[in-house]
Amino acid sequence: MKRKGQGIRFQLIAGIVIMTIAGIGLVGFMSIKIVERSALLWKISQAEDTVGFVRASFNPAAGGGQAWGVRFAEAIAKEAGISDFRLSAPDGSPLVAAGRMPSGMGELIYDAGGMEAYMYGGGFMTGIGDFMRVSASVPGAGRVEFVLGLDEVNEDMGSVRKFLALYAIIDSIVIIAFGVYFLSRSILQPLKKLEESAKSIAGGKLFDRADVAVDNEVGSLATSFNSMAERLEDEIKSLERVNLELTTMQEELLRSSTLAAVGRLAAGIAHEIGNPLGALNGYMEILSKGSLDPAEFKDIIARAGRETDRIDSIVRDFLEVARPARKAASPVDLNALLAETIDALSVRGDFSGVDVSVLSGEVPQVMADEGKLRQVFSNLLINAAQAMEGMEKKAITVSTHFETRPAQLKFGRRKSDQPMEMKHGERGYALVRIKDTGAGVAPLDAARIFDPFFTTKEVGKGTGLGLFVSQSIIKACGGEITFRSVEGGAEFTVALPTGEERA
Ligand SMILES: Nc1ncnc2c1ncn2[C@@H]1O[C@H](COP(=O)(O)OP(=O)(O)OP(=O)(O)O)[C@@H](O)[C@H]1O
Ligand SMILES: [Mg+2]
Repeated sequence: MKRKGQGIRFQLIAGIVIMTIAGIGLVGFMSIKIVERSALLWKISQAEDTVGFVRASFNPAAGGGQAWGVRFAEAIAKEAGISDFRLSAPDGSPLVAAGRMPSGMGELIYDAGGMEAYMYGGGFMTGIGDFMRVSASVPGAGRVEFVLGLDEVNEDMGSVRKFLALYAIIDSIVIIAFGVYFLSRSILQPLKKLEESAKSIAGGKLFDRADVAVDNEVGSLATSFNSMAERLEDEIKSLERVNLELTTMQEELLRSSTLAAVGRLAAGIAHEIGNPLGALNGYMEILSKGSLDPAEFKDIIARAGRETDRIDSIVRDFLEVARPARKAASPVDLNALLAETIDALSVRGDFSGVDVSVLSGEVPQVMADEGKLRQVFSNLLINAAQAMEGMEKKAITVSTHFETRPAQLKFGRRKSDQPMEMKHGERGYALVRIKDTGAGVAPLDAARIFDPFFTTKEVGKGTGLGLFVSQSIIKACGGEITFRSVEGGAEFTVALPTGEERA
């Protein structure tokens, strides 16, 4: 910006200087030419006088005859200070030949009344020459020729030139000084003020205005600039007001949505307890039929006990959300836990007609809270079963795998499913895949299924907490839940670190 400002200043001043010098130079040159011309005319009129006297000497009216005329002409030349003088008879024979005539013709500068004047040396640019030769007809004698020196004229021209040069310099200084002063007052200073205000406004001083009082385009630019700044200030102020309103509104919205969330969380608690209660209902039905042998009876009672424990554990979980207290993790055998969970769910209505197949791979134990893992797998399995509701083919495939992943990329690309061999810089993971043949997840929903309270299920059936709670449980164990659409259904993968690592 600074350089640009200097640029316009420099350009304008350079323009003034160049124009002034060119103008004054031209005027000076023209003046010199005019003075030169009048000096030459003066010299020519001297020559005319001399020729006039010579002609008069031979005038028959003077009555002196030719010899007298010659003597008289010589005297005139002497009187006029002419040393190179030539007088010739009509037949060309010399009557007087004093001094010498210059060689060459010279430049014709005058030709009138039978008199010609030729200049030697000098020119348009170099000025007046060194001398001039005059040649004129003399009635009664023949021709007179003489040389007039121009030294005197040249000397005068020298001082005229000096005077004009001095005049031109003083003139230029005065004009340039005034030019720069007015330019600075009317354009440069107002522009500078405008620039300063613009910078100040850009720097946040919205109230700043350009104080420019000149009556030209820069002045009207400043007026427009000021009204623009005015509008900008108004707009920014109203934007700030709107922003404040928006923030207040957002806070209100957050408060009301938090209230709603609390309500839904309560509903969520009820839902989570609903799953084991459903199982308990199933066991009670079986028990009420009363056709069980003592061993089966004992088994059902044990199962019912586990579901009651689950209710207890869920209530504790939600208490933990409010007041987190870490439960000690213990080694969990995933294959056994999955078999148990599937078994417990099989009595639910959701699972009637569902074909659950298990492909148990060789996986090491994982360190986790078993009750919580059970909760995760139940959620995933129930989701799978519910996604297939009303469909002809209902199949869930549960499989377990071991996988190694690069240690530095926490969840990098899969390396291998088996065998359980660790390479350097790798970490071991136990994977549980739950694949169903249900409706799948709509592409638009895929990004939101892990959000709390996101559900596509009818009111009373789903609260949208299942995947959210499950993900937070798995994340707490250092693992992750991922999801992908597979042909004719969905596949959820739970990855849990096995604690095996090679740095
Ligand atoms: N296996 C699946 N196939 C198709 N969609 C699924 C599957 N699992 C989850 N979803 C979708 O993700 C949504 C969220 O699931 P999430 O388990 O969090 O809640 P929910 O099942 O709707 O309710 P809740 O689990 O609280 O009873 C579901 O409503 C459903 O649209
Ligand atoms: Mg669910």
